[in-house]
Amino acid sequence: MPVSSDAPFADAPWMAPGLTPDARAALLDAALTEDERYGLLHSQWAIGFLPDAPLPEGAIPAAGYVPPIPRLGIPGLYETDASLGVTNPRNARPGDTATALPSGLALASTWDADLARDAGAMVGDEAAKKGFNVLLGGGMNLVRDPRCGRNFEYLGEDPLLAGVLSGEAIRGTQSQGIIATAKHFVLNDQETGRHVVNAIIDEAALRESDLLAFQIAIERGAPGSIMSAYNKINGHYACENDALLNGVLKGDWAYPGFVMADWGATTSVHAAANGLDQQSGEQLDYRVWFEAPLRESVAAGETSPERISDMARRILRAMFAAGLFDRPLPKGEPIDYAAHGRIAHKAAAEGIVLLKNARGILPLTGNAKRIAVIGGHADVGVLCGGGSSQVTTGKGHAAFIHAGGEGAMMAMASEAYHPSAPLAAIKRSASGARVSFANGRYPSEAAMLARDCDIAIVFANQWTTEGADVPDLTLPNGQDALIDAVAAANPNTIVVLQTGGPVLMPWLGSVAAVLKAWYPGAQGGEAIADILFGAACPSGRLPVTFPQSTAQLPRPELPGLGKRWAAPFGRRVDLAHAPGFDVPHAEGSDVGYRWFAREGHAPLFPFGYGLSYTAFSYANLAVTGGDALTITFDVTNTGPCEGIDTPQVYLTHRSGAPIRRLLGWSRLRLKPGERASVTLTADPRLLADFDTGRRAWHVPEGRYDIALARSAEDFDVHAGASISEKWIKP
Ligand code: BGC
Repeated sequence: MPVSSDAPFADAPWMAPGLTPDARAALLDAALTEDERYGLLHSQWAIGFLPDAPLPEGAIPAAGYVPPIPRLGIPGLYETDASLGVTNPRNARPGDTATALPSGLALASTWDADLARDAGAMVGDEAAKKGFNVLLGGGMNLVRDPRCGRNFEYLGEDPLLAGVLSGEAIRGTQSQGIIATAKHFVLNDQETGRHVVNAIIDEAALRESDLLAFQIAIERGAPGSIMSAYNKINGHYACENDALLNGVLKGDWAYPGFVMADWGATTSVHAAANGLDQQSGEQLDYRVWFEAPLRESVAAGETSPERISDMARRILRAMFAAGLFDRPLPKGEPIDYAAHGRIAHKAAAEGIVLLKNARGILPLTGNAKRIAVIGGHADVGVLCGGGSSQVTTGKGHAAFIHAGGEGAMMAMASEAYHPSAPLAAIKRSASGARVSFANGRYPSEAAMLARDCDIAIVFANQWTTEGADVPDLTLPNGQDALIDAVAAANPNTIVVLQTGGPVLMPWLGSVAAVLKAWYPGAQGGEAIADILFGAACPSGRLPVTFPQSTAQLPRPELPGLGKRWAAPFGRRVDLAHAPGFDVPHAEGSDVGYRWFAREGHAPLFPFGYGLSYTAFSYANLAVTGGDALTITFDVTNTGPCEGIDTPQVYLTHRSGAPIRRLLGWSRLRLKPGERASVTLTADPRLLADFDTGRRAWHVPEGRYDIALARSAEDFDVHAGASISEKWIKP
């Protein structure tokens, strides 16, 4: 966009028309004094409620702040969390609320790249209008363990699905003229001991899994920044991991943006030379490493002055690329919350996964005259996950239950409910029916109500949060017993699960239907009612494998659970010397469904699974090989109503050897009888192995068999073709 000639600094060399962001950043870096340059390299924690971290002057209360440099017209950086909506931690901006998207796993269950982009744009719009120019989202760690407390922020277990959706969400956010952040780079796959855990993994396996997800997201979304994670990878902290930051990210992928640390994750001055460009939330670290210690390191010849300029240039480049110098932020402009609510509603409804529907009990019809709604605080609202991503919605939280427990995160954590009560939405949808509520505290009382009704809908919740993993996959607070009691009293029992991720379902055989609603966001109650009563046809597909037991997982015991580990949040801990522990990742790149296939485990529900109220048939599958693998097929809606299908294509054999990888999918909205043709071309990296010797992807010559599938375990038709050998740059 052209700069108006009366804009301040319009005549500065870095504002000349036609210059690339790199050229502009280089010119501006050259104009910085040393103090100004170092000033860009560390952000302050800007929430302002700790005595030793008061609100910095000029900051908007939020996660981070880098002061502006008025002498050169450099805007400050105003950083807010996160992927699921603009947060307002501890109501630091009194009364400021935002639109809460459903959880990342709900969004991932839509498998809808366009919706991910709309969702990212929605959050970006709200962030910009609240005065923020850096969004600390998209969160995109691969779900390697269903017990991880932050899974709800992420986009599932598959690198293609997570990479595509995250890339599109980032693209959407940055379309609003601000910087987005892909996080947490990389392998931050458990919260237990997250500041000291050392993830051990083979390099090729990492390339083919978590790194591939980031690579795809960066290619699609071009995020201005990447947030490096808390944990160590192969013995080195993510924030000072030379091999990953300098070697892979900035070397092999030529990533031009900047790497910011997670809050409290910068552990030494060596991080600068090893690839970290900006220390974050400096009050949380043991020292403000990227000020005096970094200057000393340069003076001592350990860090080069060129590297200091490179760090500043990368930050400035991201600011130029986002347009921060060329367009004022729309700060204070009105936000269209009604339109944003519709995006949250759509994502929730399309992200709900119908797991079971015996006797076609759903959608509910006018025959359901007496409906029991039980448990899960369904009279109050819908659950949301805890931690830095927790959004306070339009009307504020309907209920806050302090979580308690040890650790800095847990001390601040609360189980919050968005004020979108399913009970009220069910009453609106079930006009003419008598809808009664039991809180579910006493199973016997709930069973009594269920016995007296045509239909019993049990809401079962599992709250998860940043900073803590769940110790196992059972529903907490005796909810399994509640479901058992209700199902014994009424065969028409429907369970609605609001959980962070997969849970076990010992009662599955005795209930009629199960809806997985994840954490459904600002309009979750309405979205659940839409599915229950058929205003929307269920279309969600699982982005994670549901195990039958933790014994099926690569690590049946969650490493480090139950021990006290260093947690620097809110106080300074010398993490470089804190005791930690190793977590070998024996599954390598075989995350989730790939591990289940490799080990021959039958899951409770497979990756990609989800039922519909209509039906789809597949035909005319054809595969062509040669230089690329291209798959074509037709899909027909053979059922009674309009619906969305998500046919998936998996690689099943490579030259006869079994292998399982998602190669692609399509998402089709079809009317009854309607047919559509699909063409997919596999990203060759999904056919390849990473060769660490040659530092390149290798597609071996041979026959590639694929399946057109309804899930990672339900193959409809098979086909194959031969491919010629190929080497692809890393
Ligand atoms: C989280 C990040 C978040 C940051 C700032 C950290 O605890 O890991 O995801 O962006 O805090 O709030």
